[in-house]
Amino acid sequence: MQQSDVGYELCEQDGEDVPYCPHGPTLLFSRKSNKGDAIDKFYACAAYRKRKDCNFYQKFGPKESEEKQALRKKIYLNFNSSNRLYRNIMEDSIHKERIKFCLICGVVIPNKLCADNSHTAQYKFLSATDLKYPSRFLTPKESNASNAQYFFSPDVIDFISSTILTLHFDKVLCIGTPSIHEHIKHSGKHKSVSTFLLDLDVRMRQFHKDYAHYNMFNHHFYEAAEEERFYQFMASSKSLLIIIDPPYGGLVQALSVTLKKIVSTSSCKSVSRLLFFPYFMEPQVEKHLPSLAMSDYKVNYSNHSGYKAGVSEHSKGSPARIYTDIPLKRFVLPQEHGYKFCEVCLKYISKENQHCYQCGSCTTKHGSQYHHCETCKRCVKPSRVHCLQCNQCEMESHTCHSTETKQAGILLKRKQMSKRKHSYNTAGHKKESWNVKKRHKT
Ligand SMILES: C[S@@+](CC[C@H](N)C(=O)[O-])C[C@H]1O[C@@H](n2cnc3c(N)ncnc32)[C@H](O)[C@@H]1O
Ligand SMILES: [Zn+2]
Ligand SMILES: [Zn+2]
Ligand SMILES: [Zn+2]
Ligand SMILES: [Zn+2]
Ligand SMILES: [Zn+2]
Ligand SMILES: [Zn+2]
Repeated sequence: MQQSDVGYELCEQDGEDVPYCPHGPTLLFSRKSNKGDAIDKFYACAAYRKRKDCNFYQKFGPKESEEKQALRKKIYLNFNSSNRLYRNIMEDSIHKERIKFCLICGVVIPNKLCADNSHTAQYKFLSATDLKYPSRFLTPKESNASNAQYFFSPDVIDFISSTILTLHFDKVLCIGTPSIHEHIKHSGKHKSVSTFLLDLDVRMRQFHKDYAHYNMFNHHFYEAAEEERFYQFMASSKSLLIIIDPPYGGLVQALSVTLKKIVSTSSCKSVSRLLFFPYFMEPQVEKHLPSLAMSDYKVNYSNHSGYKAGVSEHSKGSPARIYTDIPLKRFVLPQEHGYKFCEVCLKYISKENQHCYQCGSCTTKHGSQYHHCETCKRCVKPSRVHCLQCNQCEMESHTCHSTETKQAGILLKRKQMSKRKHSYNTAGHKKESWNVKKRHKT
């Protein structure tokens, strides 16, 4: 079966009754043909989507024997017990003096996880700032696409910080957003705001007590004591803000289930959400998190070359956006970075965006100025011109339908490419990135 003929969707599943991989309870996927026919269903890792990180694969079918299930859980528990070697620095009385850290293993020394003498050259002594802002010095796990640690640039942190202040949130739940968590705790600007971090990166435990080792794709906590602390944090609040920056292959469908579960744990009067995700995933967000709307704010990352201001493809700026249920007219984007207010749409927009009176909206999505095509009756990207032969707007360099068969091949290829792009959107992740190829059976 060719990859372009199939798509993957998440299936509904009963909480506890799923097989475990070393990273916790798995997710149930269904594989569908392009026509929408179900091909098969299988369980795969809920934390890692690359086979090299976790190759768990189990066909959906009759339940495994109790022994086999118990064995799987034992493998998980053993794996998780090695995570306990990441201890909170404050809880370890050893660390009274200068704290030594192995940059290779990502652990405070001494620690069994770093028993390699050759690492001495990579030790560093932690400064007071390192202890407060570990996300600034911890080597990002960006080589590992599943963890995808791209940290916000300072202007993004400032923007979120001022949003928290102007909208008077008293609690912020940071999911996969350690740099915001650290800013709220230590910048001195948020004295009356409390914050809690949920993240799969267990290295964070060493620095943050208000942290839980957690998988955002299935709301799984690895430590009961941390889960308990999370519930205490959620217990009461006037106005809670949930900030979530998932790895981009992240399944929106799974995140939507997680967000519902989180909100149900809170007795908070008002809950708002900020989700960081690319603009081209808007259809997925609309489908699974319909209360969120996309804001024009372009999110820059400090260690991701494609997501920095002005350096991404065609210099349109970063494709990452913020989706939120804060009314967009109250989600004030920074004027000093060129954002302005559209009096018709009643929302803040980027400087490239222009209200189109024919379309009745500010139409730019991807960061450059669109123009209205009278024939197509909609706004199109600046690179498109109206082609009379194709009867729609196309790239100037395109090949029309009506020319030779040889060229038809090129067109077909282009169609296939756009289909592939669509399947990214449909499944919520790149096909080649989550459980797609044949796995080794375990
Ligand atoms: C794209 S980065 C976001 C970092 C954020 N921009 C910041 O500056 O704080 C993704 C974050 O989510 C965490 N993460 C990755 N997969 C996760 C999962 N399945 N559950 C929870 N956290 C996860 C990573 O460890 C990382 O901190
Ligand atoms: Zn796994
Ligand atoms: Zn080491
Ligand atoms: Zn407008
Ligand atoms: Zn228009
Ligand atoms: Zn047109
Ligand atoms: Zn044409």
